[in-house]
Amino acid sequence: MFWLATLLLFQTPPPVLDLPARNPHTTSADLADGKQLYQGRCAGCHGPEGSGGKGANLAVPVLPRAADDRSLYRIIRYGLPDTEMPGSLMDAREIWQTAAFVRSLGSVSAAPVAGDTRNGERVLRGKAGCLQCHALGNEGGRAGPSLTGIGARRGAAHLRAKIADPASEVHESFRMVQVTTRDGRTVRGTRLNEDSWSIQLRDAAGAFHSLWKEEIAKLVSERRTTMPPYRDRLNEQELTDLVAYLSAERGAQ
Ligand code: HEC
Ligand code: HEC
Repeated sequence: MFWLATLLLFQTPPPVLDLPARNPHTTSADLADGKQLYQGRCAGCHGPEGSGGKGANLAVPVLPRAADDRSLYRIIRYGLPDTEMPGSLMDAREIWQTAAFVRSLGSVSAAPVAGDTRNGERVLRGKAGCLQCHALGNEGGRAGPSLTGIGARRGAAHLRAKIADPASEVHESFRMVQVTTRDGRTVRGTRLNEDSWSIQLRDAAGAFHSLWKEEIAKLVSERRTTMPPYRDRLNEQELTDLVAYLSAERGAQ
């Protein structure tokens, strides 16, 4: 019985208040272990060099939400709520080692994404019409997720692939869903929000629908998006400039 209790103790995360303010595991051996942990658990989303992908660019001098060691620890341990950043079950030492490696990514300053950001902004507002569906600051539409701060959340390669071919990677929480109610109505639209009791959608005409789960007979979530592909609508230069502009979009800070 005793061994079981110790096992449980070891698996319980340390209470947050007991977290040291500075990372206690930063030797070169820790960094090497951290690198290995990072490659196995984080690189798939954040890129092997931390320059981002599906996940945020971590190769920056100051992480916007993890400026100090404790906040970095907490993000790795618990993830970021309502985003695709997952928590992890690594033990405290492994988390610190991973954190140490993440910090080391930031000390090599990431090259800015090549491209003419001014032209990128022109493409976004003009020809591509991105703000019809996306908010940026106080302007724009709401059919899709806000692009404010998108450069801090997604890496350049991911943005490029997404714009060229939106179906390649559909945002988890903005899936198209088709709902059939018990009384036989069908509503199709982009999921805006969902909880245990209700779901909110916006249909193609822009109308807002809120349905109680109780009244729903069937709910099909599709890996489809209403975002049009831009592969043939923008040329290589326009796409490059647009990605450079979005990568530099870090929100109001
Ligand atoms: C499934 C993909 C995925 C995995 C795996 C993942 N992340 Fe993330 N991570 C994200 C996304 C997406 C964000 C941005 C969330 C947002 O703001 O929408 C993020 C954000 C972060 C941030 C916050 C950066 C800031 O803005 O300050 C840190 C730090 C981070 N991740 C570290 C890690 C580490 C370390 C690992 C491995 C232990 C990891 N992530 C694994 C997807 C992932
Ligand atoms: C007709 C509406 C529409 C237009 C026009 C549109 N989008 Fe989207 N976009 C969406 C919707 C809906 C989503 C959420 C579902 C998905 O991931 O495809 C989305 C998702 C995205 C995402 C993923 C957001 C994230 O947090 O990962 C990015 C990036 C994006 N759009 C950029 C653009 C850019 C840049 C343009 C202009 C070149 C554009 N979109 C034009 C509707 C649109």
